Amino acid sequence: MKGIILAGGRGTRLHPVTRGVSKQLLPVYNKPMVYYPLSILMFAGIREILVISTPEDLPLYQRLLGDGQQWGLRLTYAAQDEPRGLADAFRIGRKFVGGEPVALVLGDNIFYGTGLPETLRRAAKLEVGAVAFAYPVSDPHRHGIVELDASGRVISLVEKPSEPRSHYAVPGMYFYDGKVCDIAASLKPSARGEYEITDLNCVYLARGELRIEMLGRGVAWLDAGTHESLLQASNFVQTVELRQGLMIACPEEVAYRMGFIDGDALAALAEELPSEYTDYLRNILRDHPVRR
Ligand code: DAU
Repeated sequence: MKGIILAGGRGTRLHPVTRGVSKQLLPVYNKPMVYYPLSILMFAGIREILVISTPEDLPLYQRLLGDGQQWGLRLTYAAQDEPRGLADAFRIGRKFVGGEPVALVLGDNIFYGTGLPETLRRAAKLEVGAVAFAYPVSDPHRHGIVELDASGRVISLVEKPSEPRSHYAVPGMYFYDGKVCDIAASLKPSARGEYEITDLNCVYLARGELRIEMLGRGVAWLDAGTHESLLQASNFVQTVELRQGLMIACPEEVAYRMGFIDGDALAALAEELPSEYTDYLRNILRDHPVRR
């Protein structure tokens, strides 16, 4: 399976902070925001990844992430000149996807919690249809909302309903089969002028090919799109990391634990400019000389 990180948009809710820098490059505690969705794809076992951002910001992502080889990845880049919606990722990424299954993760979505890597690896085995997730939220009118029956089958999917029929949001992480680009190409823009991911998911739903998996209470799903939620996300990551002495979404560590790079490669990364971050990489090697 391939992966796409969508990291464009105008970040207007974070103005003036995002007037000078792309939202998804802002720090979430001690790492650029994009590290978090990148690590999610890596945990799913995905190594071939397309990063989409605005034409102005794309060079910054290239400078930060490079070709991905340092983490055992193949990263490529594409520009979205206008924020035409989340499903636009599959119009832009059509050639990259090449008819294969693909996962999409939003550049400002942060996931952390028990059992998540297993859930991701299971979703990445998908060959037919689509997998998305449901997550309980207290502000359902702000998200794509899914209504489920007692057996967990999807009854309806609605984008930001004024009268939500459930409090289960669909987070910004989706897995699709090879048909996704054709479906995205057939979508019409919504009333707000965007190719909606919810419309794309509704096509899979109508075909009986959409599976929704519940992300339980043991998982934290945060988005970092407002001043408040960005600060909350930073505080969350700081609290967990300081308590455990383990990092959330450190791509070097994930690459090592997933077997994408070996100990020598991790040691070389740890030799880069001395910082608390490279101290941490050295500690991983010291504590886990054999991958775990
Ligand atoms: O976060 C999950 C939610 O994401 C879902 O529940 C909704 O169904 C989905 O529509 C989306 O809602 P948002 O209101 O959060 O979408 P937003 O327009 O804020 O875009 C999400 C991220 O994607 C944001 O960081 C900017 C980026 N983006 C957005 C658009 C529309 C792009 O890179 N390009 C775009 O064209």
